[in-house]
Amino acid sequence: MIRGSTRVVPVTMRLSTQQTIFWLRLVTLVGLCVPALELAWRWYNGDLEPRTVTLATHVTGDWAVVFLLTSLSLTPARALFDWMPLTQVRRRVGVAAALYALAHLLIYVLDQKWNLIVVATEIAKRFYLTIGFAALLVFTVLAITSTNGWQRRLKRNWKRLHWLVYPAVAVALVHFFIQSKVKIGDAAFAAGLFLWLMLWRLFPPKLRTSFAGLFLLAGAATLGTVVIEATWYGLVNKIDPLRVLAANIDLDLVPRPAHQVLAVSLLVIVLVALRRGIAAANRLWTGRYIRQTIPTS
Ligand code: HEM
Repeated sequence: MIRGSTRVVPVTMRLSTQQTIFWLRLVTLVGLCVPALELAWRWYNGDLEPRTVTLATHVTGDWAVVFLLTSLSLTPARALFDWMPLTQVRRRVGVAAALYALAHLLIYVLDQKWNLIVVATEIAKRFYLTIGFAALLVFTVLAITSTNGWQRRLKRNWKRLHWLVYPAVAVALVHFFIQSKVKIGDAAFAAGLFLWLMLWRLFPPKLRTSFAGLFLLAGAATLGTVVIEATWYGLVNKIDPLRVLAANIDLDLVPRPAHQVLAVSLLVIVLVALRRGIAAANRLWTGRYIRQTIPTS
């Protein structure tokens, strides 16, 4: 009897996992398409005028960065929330990021009246476009080779190749910073989140999932964001880094990018605590239920 029942349970669980993955994939697909559909709708209705092409360039660039960071956050999320299905959508989020970046380039080409010679000259001449193009090339190669077939063909080199995503995102963020001119707030916030994601990967495995590690990460990513912001303003705009540091403790100037990074880091800690609390309560409840309903002798 008992053997029979233990054989039934995994089948039911497997089915429900498949259903979870199905719904997660569907929701992800919809979530990835919504920004593009919204942009197309606003473009069609003339909502982006009079700076249609400029706004479309910005929107696609922003979403490319959002999806790149999202794809990098799925490995930590799976480990922290102990939720395997997240790995099933990592590939499509990464591919979507590459597609948004490609759309971003296409809109730029449209802005240049499809004159590819002008486009090529501009990319070669302007540093921020050159590095944007380099990052885009990497994302395109990674998206093409993200399939199981390519994974089999490239064997161990597949991991080496896909490791390039980290320097490519860093380069794309520099492109973001440069084109932001003096308003680097969003770029610095994105850089702070990227720092969090990279530091998490550099942490020893035990620290990655412990609360001590997460608090350490929150502090390091927040301070790192202040340093990135101060360094950028210091090097590019010749602003005294101490003024940037002072701005980060001035309550009138809240929220600065470092505060946003701190808020996200603390939110992660709260969500992890909730998830673990619910799992512990479930275990307790299941244990009590079993003790009460199954006779011990
Ligand atoms: C050949 C490749 C690329 C070209 C030609 C290009 C071109 C541009 C241009 C013209 C702008 C607007 C500049 C302005 O308004 O002054 C821009 C902004 C931006 N680009 Fe790119 N870009 C390229 C690659 C990328 C890549 C690979 C990413 C990220 C994955 C990216 C992310 C962004 C972001 C986030 C912005 C700022 C959007 C905002 O301020 O809201 N770009 N890019």
